[in-house]
Amino acid sequence: MLLQIGQKPEHDFHEPIGMLEDCHKRILFFLKTLIRVSSEATTEPLNPDQRTILEKALRYFRESGPRHTADEEESLFPHLRRIDSPEIGEVFVKIDSLESDHRWADQQHLEVDSICRRWLDSGVCPQPGLDQLREILNNLLAFYERHIRLEETEVFSAARALLSDSGKEAVGQEMARRRGITSERP
Ligand SMILES: [Fe+2]
Ligand SMILES: [Fe+2]
Repeated sequence: MLLQIGQKPEHDFHEPIGMLEDCHKRILFFLKTLIRVSSEATTEPLNPDQRTILEKALRYFRESGPRHTADEEESLFPHLRRIDSPEIGEVFVKIDSLESDHRWADQQHLEVDSICRRWLDSGVCPQPGLDQLREILNNLLAFYERHIRLEETEVFSAARALLSDSGKEAVGQEMARRRGITSERP
């Protein structure tokens, strides 16, 4: 996703919660891309531009999407679960429901990947695969809009308020290591 003129620069590993929100923008961007390509699909074969766009979006959900889920489930949420504060109890319940949301989304992405790979292989998206694909993608968009809203308003805001600076730094370093990057302050 290219940075547009006038758009705020993306966060770095020293601002891990901001980075997670940047990832949410990319999830929605690539999902809407898939929706657009599937809505434009006809009985004609994919043209080279559509093929490139489709491959890029699929690669995002195959490689970067699972890393985002791991950033939440293996880094941010465990750090939150270690907080001992009367305000955190309700957040734990929301984290549990977000994790079961992730399992549902994983299944939907597997379906999307499978249909789109068949589409790329043959060049033409076969019916009823196309109808099924459009339905799954629209469900995923509604799902992500709700899921992201819940994460950002209920869980990330609690993380910003309740995680210590060293806790936030630790989350950022775990996210960096997950990408093979060592992020030490100079
Ligand atoms: Fe999530
Ligand atoms: Fe998320």
